[in-house]
Amino acid sequence: MNRPQAAAALAVLEAHRVEVAKKRTMDLFAEDPRRFQDFSAGLDDLLYDYSKNRLTRATLHHLFDLARACQLEKRRDALFGGEKVNVTEKRAALHMALRNFSGHAIHVDGKDVMPDVLAERAKFLAFAEAIRSGRFAGATGERFTDVVNIGIGGSDLGPAMAARALSPYAAPGLRAHFVSNVDGSDIADTLKQLDPARTLFIVSSKTFTTQETLKNAQSARHWLVTALGEAAVASHFAAVSTRLDKVAAFGILPDRVFGFWDWVGGRYSMWSAIGLSLAVLIGPNHFEDFLRGGFDVDEHFRTAPLAENIPVLMGLIGVWHRNVWGFPAQAVIPYDQRLARFPAYLQQLDMESNGKGVQLNGDAVTQATGPIIFGEPGTNGQHAFFQLLHQGTETTPVDFIVAAEPNEADPEHHVLLFANCIAQSEALMRGRSLEEVQEILRAQGLSEAEIGALAPHKVFSGDRPSSTLLYRKLTPRTLGRLVALYEHKVFVQSVIWNINPFDQWGVELGKELCNRLAPLVADASVDLAGLDGSTAGLIAARRFLQG
Ligand code: F6P
Repeated sequence: MNRPQAAAALAVLEAHRVEVAKKRTMDLFAEDPRRFQDFSAGLDDLLYDYSKNRLTRATLHHLFDLARACQLEKRRDALFGGEKVNVTEKRAALHMALRNFSGHAIHVDGKDVMPDVLAERAKFLAFAEAIRSGRFAGATGERFTDVVNIGIGGSDLGPAMAARALSPYAAPGLRAHFVSNVDGSDIADTLKQLDPARTLFIVSSKTFTTQETLKNAQSARHWLVTALGEAAVASHFAAVSTRLDKVAAFGILPDRVFGFWDWVGGRYSMWSAIGLSLAVLIGPNHFEDFLRGGFDVDEHFRTAPLAENIPVLMGLIGVWHRNVWGFPAQAVIPYDQRLARFPAYLQQLDMESNGKGVQLNGDAVTQATGPIIFGEPGTNGQHAFFQLLHQGTETTPVDFIVAAEPNEADPEHHVLLFANCIAQSEALMRGRSLEEVQEILRAQGLSEAEIGALAPHKVFSGDRPSSTLLYRKLTPRTLGRLVALYEHKVFVQSVIWNINPFDQWGVELGKELCNRLAPLVADASVDLAGLDGSTAGLIAARRFLQG
């Protein structure tokens, strides 16, 4: 860190860690009956419990000092004020305008963007409703039963995650599918289940240049035209993009093309028309509830004091783990099967935003930045990688995410689900000492020799940090809140690290090299001279294996 005040604040935290490390988290609870109340924060029916992390009131105090040293509040206001916070692309990052229900103007380059935002939203939600009601039907007059979103990254992960999360809100008889991978098996496996006469394609791409999306869109078009003829394209295709000129060239009717703006980053775009497939599935009212959830969090993030501000706390506790304790990863475990794609969605949001090594001014960073994000739904993860979380040599902080009430009727499942969730966070914190293990084994009648051999394997260090996000029920509004909480958490961390969370130059080199290599892969007669040995060898081996 080459910002002196921030570096000083971080140094204080590093010294403070030595003090905190002298106490076990369980002791912190024993000493402080109010720990749960004081180390949790709420937003309506959502509770963020961070009491099981190894930290004290002094830790929070030092973390807020760090935030102030990094001018977090000023940077947050610049974000909401439409300043060009995405410095390398000279753009604002105003996805919050897409869910702004305040009635107030939001300016980009001196222009209030809200009239355009509201008009475009009204347009794509009206289209969604027309598909749902059957007013817009397929070329043969049949009602649409299947919507296929073709997109990748931010034009796929958000709507795909949300379509699954909110499936209880889906219209009966409507199914949403998501095709993203350039691997032809993705679209082939999807189309196999579909009837062209009842299928609507939405081609979603901010830039409309993305290789995977264009290839999949061409394949979908070919499939449709083969079955129903060229004229069917008009009624079976819609598109979402900021590049309306490029969409027109693909042949999609202008009134079925929905726009958004360059001040909406791809991984922050599910609030825009990129959410069209979701809007068709759950309907305009539920889609607006989802947006309202995002707005709830924006208001909270903008106005709540640092000590009660959930995204600020999430971000700073992440910094405490990443930079002061040196933990390399962060697990996100939803105890909610319908959030199965939430960790994958967060991987792009967090790792594409904060996986950076250069500060805003171009200097190299001097501390670690974004952690490795991974996760799977509980309880499945428990039977896969939780062994490492409990006894592995790395400590991995965990975010547990769980509802108080299921969407399903059977309460017995939910009792077990919830009990598993809190049992895991308790086990990670509590651990089990060698003495405790020996006592248990003795009570089971094992000999001292057997105890000596087995006991070390059954020890849990404990003090493995976790936080829990608890909400009443997974509704569209709750989902909006969850997504926006993580968006702002990522922003908070980017401010501490002084990096730009809104660009993604790290994906460019691979794209460029792929464009150069594709002709060499396609044509076996092209000479491979000039390539490195491995790349040339792999192409040659493929040629050989293909005969
Ligand atoms: O992989 C890089 C990326 O640019 C992401 O940031 C983006 O979400 C994705 O590709 C898709 O881009 P587009 O929406 O322009 O097709």
